[in-house]
Amino acid sequence: MQVTFNANYFPTEGAIVVPIFEGNDFTAPANQINEKTGGAISRAVEHSSFTGKSGDLLDIYAPTGLNLSRIILIGLGKKEDATEKSVSEIGTKLATKISYGPESSITVLFNNINLDNMKNHELAVHFSVGALLRSYRFNKYKTQLKEAQKKKINEFMVIVDQPQAADEFFHRYSSIVEGVFFARNLMCEPPNVLHPKSMAKELAELSNLGVKVDIINEKDMEKLGMNAILAVGKGSECESQLVVMQWNGGTDHEAPLAFVGKGVTFDTGGISLKPPPKMDEMKYDMGGAAAVAGLMKSLAGRKAKVNVVGVVGLVENMPDAAAYRPGDIIKTLSGQTIEVLNTDAEGRVVLADALWYTQSKFSPKFMIDLATLTGSMVVALGNKYAGMFSNDESLVHKLFQSGQETGEHVWQMPMDDRYDKDIDSKIADVKNTGANGAGSITAAHFLKRFTNNVPWAHLDIAGTAWTDEPNPYSGTLPTGFGVRLLDHFIHKYYEK
Ligand code: BES
Ligand code: MN
Ligand code: ZN
Repeated sequence: MQVTFNANYFPTEGAIVVPIFEGNDFTAPANQINEKTGGAISRAVEHSSFTGKSGDLLDIYAPTGLNLSRIILIGLGKKEDATEKSVSEIGTKLATKISYGPESSITVLFNNINLDNMKNHELAVHFSVGALLRSYRFNKYKTQLKEAQKKKINEFMVIVDQPQAADEFFHRYSSIVEGVFFARNLMCEPPNVLHPKSMAKELAELSNLGVKVDIINEKDMEKLGMNAILAVGKGSECESQLVVMQWNGGTDHEAPLAFVGKGVTFDTGGISLKPPPKMDEMKYDMGGAAAVAGLMKSLAGRKAKVNVVGVVGLVENMPDAAAYRPGDIIKTLSGQTIEVLNTDAEGRVVLADALWYTQSKFSPKFMIDLATLTGSMVVALGNKYAGMFSNDESLVHKLFQSGQETGEHVWQMPMDDRYDKDIDSKIADVKNTGANGAGSITAAHFLKRFTNNVPWAHLDIAGTAWTDEPNPYSGTLPTGFGVRLLDHFIHKYYEK
């Protein structure tokens, strides 16, 4: 779907979208179209339950006086309530509706609409971004698409007071959308196609945007002493990869912000094999790495004025004669030893080396890792919030705030030495599972031991990276969770 902003334009085909405030308070375009149609809008709202509440929708088919298939009334809510998030979510609702409608051309009338705390062009852009994000499809493996699935919106025209202001404001967001779609595309790919090497190859394409991409292969890892990542990948036919992506849009010598992603391209559990139900979903176990890659794409696409490094550990966790076992002890890059009690707790083992490498190589301002790390996170917070664990209250505040503003919510979870004790091993430094519940928290404490006390936050996105319950922005496809959150976080707090 392509979004264009225009002024002084009236469509001759397709559907027209007309916003109305809560309490059926007509906007300027609503009055204009109502007049053109001999009062069709007044009559329609009178005879329906439409009230103009945020996200309300109502169809008026084949309106007299217009050569259009329908008018779609859309509720904008109260003038004083609009936020980036609320307006985007109204856009997602329209996108869902038009995706199964007959029209391929949509015109949204935002001209002469003014809100209390949002400019006309901002309203138009936030709305369009929501619609764009929700329009995402992944049909590349469908060879027999039904007519309805083939349908595309060829024209999504948004009428605004100042198209140029809208275009300029849209620039950053269209780059974010590219980043989100990149993350989702990587996640949708099946695990026989997307494995550590092919994923590394996809990430290497970011160099076209000016991202410096370095790939550390197994031979390099052996030299460096990354035995934790190597251990997890041992049972796989595919070679493990550590991919380092650098975007240097800031000033020289300025310490970078670091983002680290868990990239398990498929997690069978290894020798501690998972049960069959929903095991296919473990192709999404690279969602943290996908989010980091999507973030890099967004930052580079919009030439963000900031230095950022993204590091992702890509492995496949398989059962095999060569696989690592429960009972194994691994010497990590940090020098600390891990006793493996469960090969299915592999994400933290991969991140142990990735985190240590990141802080020692780049001396970043802080590190934020994203990982589909624990099933217990899904039990605790479901798909509405990601769990946030941190040793730095300022990061916690900024991330929480960014979550509230983008709709990619994060909720702080406790960290406490009493949980840390749970992962002391009898014969090594640390074991990879605790035994007293709180699985997400002990996993976070495990990671903390590999941060070298650099300011750090861990986002457990196990519940938010994809959802069974339809998500406003992505339906039941992967969300790309983290890209919008972190682009916002960087833009708001770290870009000059
Ligand atoms: N990738 C899984 C976590 C996961 C499970 C994410 C379901 C999303 C949905 C992770 O590698 C894992 O298997 N964790 C185990 C840890 C346990 C063995 C200590 C878990 O959560 O069960
Ligand atoms: Mn696992
Ligand atoms: Zn996993």
